[in-house]
Amino acid sequence: MAIDLHKKPFDEGTIVKLSLYENYMQEWLPVFLRKGSNFRRINIFDFFCGPGKDDKGQKGSPLITLNILDQYLEDIERLGITVSLFFNDKRKTKIKKLKDQISFSYPNKIPCEISYSSENFEDIFNKLIHFMTERSSANFLFLDQNGIKHITEEIFKTIVNIQTTDFLFFISSSTLSRFNENPEIKKYLHIPEEIISSSDYCHIHRSVLKYYRSLIPENREYYLCPFSIKKGANIYGLIFGTGHLLGIDKFVNQCWKIDPHTGDSNFDIDNDQIDENQLSLFPEIDRPKKVQGFEKELKDAILSGNLKTNIDIYKYSLFNGFKAEHARKVLSKMIKDRILPHQKLNVSYGSCKLGNQPQKIIIGPK
Ligand SMILES: C[S@@+](CC[C@H](N)C(=O)[O-])C[C@H]1O[C@@H](n2cnc3c(N)ncnc32)[C@H](O)[C@@H]1O
Repeated sequence: MAIDLHKKPFDEGTIVKLSLYENYMQEWLPVFLRKGSNFRRINIFDFFCGPGKDDKGQKGSPLITLNILDQYLEDIERLGITVSLFFNDKRKTKIKKLKDQISFSYPNKIPCEISYSSENFEDIFNKLIHFMTERSSANFLFLDQNGIKHITEEIFKTIVNIQTTDFLFFISSSTLSRFNENPEIKKYLHIPEEIISSSDYCHIHRSVLKYYRSLIPENREYYLCPFSIKKGANIYGLIFGTGHLLGIDKFVNQCWKIDPHTGDSNFDIDNDQIDENQLSLFPEIDRPKKVQGFEKELKDAILSGNLKTNIDIYKYSLFNGFKAEHARKVLSKMIKDRILPHQKLNVSYGSCKLGNQPQKIIIGPK
């Protein structure tokens, strides 16, 4: 049986997980809570919500969400947008504690609808799905499961096909590294053994991402981004998903704020051993391998003609978990090194806005 995370103080890994959730939610909400928004309903589903706090009173995901919403009270009322929160936890006692906690912390009327339930995830997901598919609804799903079994192929594919729906799920990736072939695990996930066995232990969550990516239908433009979290010897991780470029842009940026070296973990995932306090004489040694690899691959992709426009470069960066800023640096260097002629390419979210024509990359003459 899983250890109850709320009966002790949240550990460092849990704090990183909740920070990413909080930081992204801070960015996600205002996208929809603005004048002229086409969305009349915002739904936030916290399917494994817990009781609201750890045993030292640190806020868990439901109270984090309410805290953020508190900043938008006026906007919500002024704009007449309905915000609905769905809090579910299989354990009734946790939902009872959460209800008490919310009525204590927010004695005045909260400008959103809150619905509580104590059901098994799959059951409640199927009951609530009609809210997600309603026209003019924007959805966020937080799936903070304990182990590996709830985000099955079927659930994942269902979520990916719902419009304007971002999600963040947690998974115990090293469990898959150890027990992928176990029939108990195979009941839920069918990860090809070569994906798992070809992965370094530290990179196991990146490999789990590859598996989920392989489930996205070919005709669907959809972005996933991983963040690996080490707790003791175990590796867990978050996977974020969105069908929208602005969503992936915002999430990738948040990841790099937490991890300025590789943007995807709370530990030295590539064994770069960079000591910020003692940088070496050779700057290349202090540059993370992942960044060097990306710079080389992006340069090759531009020169080989695989990427043809500014928008291709922008999407390529985000798809690989890099910020637009990383790509811009590569372009500047290529121009400085006279590999590309000088050209003002706009590599940013702004370049993809409706009405903007893609800019063709000019390759040579220097
Ligand atoms: C990792 S905790 C979630 C923590 C929460 N996000 C927070 O910030 O406090 C996982 C929660 O899932 C609940 N849970 C376990 N199995 C479940 C299931 N099958 N369906 C729904 N909830 C479940 C547990 O009771 C536990 O509170």
